[in-house]
Amino acid sequence: MSESTANVAPDLAVDLAGLSLANPMMTASGTCGYANEYADFADLSQLGAFVTKSITREVRPGNEAYRIVETRAGMLNAIGLANVGLDVFLEQKIPLLEKLGPPIIVNVAGHSVDDYTHTAAAVAQQSIVQAVELNVSCPNVSDGLTFGTNPGLLRELVHEVRQAMEDRVKLIVKLSPNASDIVGTAEAAIDGGAQMLSLTNTFTAMAIDVNKRRPRLANGTGGLSGPAIRPIAVYLTHLVYSSVAKDAGVPLIGMGGIQNWRDAAEFVLAGASGLAVGTALFIDPATPQRVCNGLRDWLTSIGCHKLQDAIGTLDVSK
Ligand SMILES: Cc1cc2nc3c(=O)[nH]c(=O)nc-3n(C[C@H](O)[C@H](O)[C@H](O)COP(=O)(O)O)c2cc1C
Repeated sequence: MSESTANVAPDLAVDLAGLSLANPMMTASGTCGYANEYADFADLSQLGAFVTKSITREVRPGNEAYRIVETRAGMLNAIGLANVGLDVFLEQKIPLLEKLGPPIIVNVAGHSVDDYTHTAAAVAQQSIVQAVELNVSCPNVSDGLTFGTNPGLLRELVHEVRQAMEDRVKLIVKLSPNASDIVGTAEAAIDGGAQMLSLTNTFTAMAIDVNKRRPRLANGTGGLSGPAIRPIAVYLTHLVYSSVAKDAGVPLIGMGGIQNWRDAAEFVLAGASGLAVGTALFIDPATPQRVCNGLRDWLTSIGCHKLQDAIGTLDVSK
């Protein structure tokens, strides 16, 4: 390595199916609202991309309280896709997101193929939107996992949404760890036309109030996130990357418990090109920037000049 190369900070830029990001760090959907909620606490302009809370065709109040419970090394939520609905999102939130800077990814949820295609098509027409992330993996609404756990339905949904968006923006499908065969759902999403996959959403889980002998969440069950799920999310990233995404050339966005650069580096080695942070934002909204700094030091220490070159380089030889 020449002296001049040695002094240059490693390049964190990543290419996600033609979508160029200055760095891999994103917000995980639902943990940073529509950006203005966090504007006073973090410099969101430094993100590689901003991912919104799930948007549905109609406004949704979400589930009854309690909707969030802290657990050891994690968080259990049953928000139930509370959101302002498509019309308010387009009128009031898009203008705020326009000022943010980084590429905008809008997460879309629905109850039917028609719901998803209607919302995704409307969002894709917004000039500031770079990608739509389909949430087919919400464990906290009655039919939230219908598409995410059934490869046949998922393939059809993804195909219809891709058609409806007329290639205006990229299509990401967010996989569920609650599917019995995540490789099967990943294949179905790719067959349907997904250009990227994100994983994972939360794991269905429960916390019990032992005095009341009742679930602590009003919904009964919730979705577990945070450090408790990270090793499983890393494994699922490795599994999907090595079984299907690598050969298909479909980039992965890894998430689940990322708190620091070391956690992020695990996902990169396992095959993730993008990285999203959710639960950790509640503790430190500057986590994405901290992770970027740590990733640069890590890449320098392993003699790698570009993050892109480290993706999926896990050595599993015996
Ligand atoms: C409070 C909360 C709300 C969430 N809302 C959404 C949502 O609206 N749509 C979605 O696709 N995922 C949602 N998620 C899942 C996260 O985007 C992410 O997949 C998951 O939390 C794992 O990442 P983490 O461990 O870094 O939080 C939510 C997670 C939390 C903790």
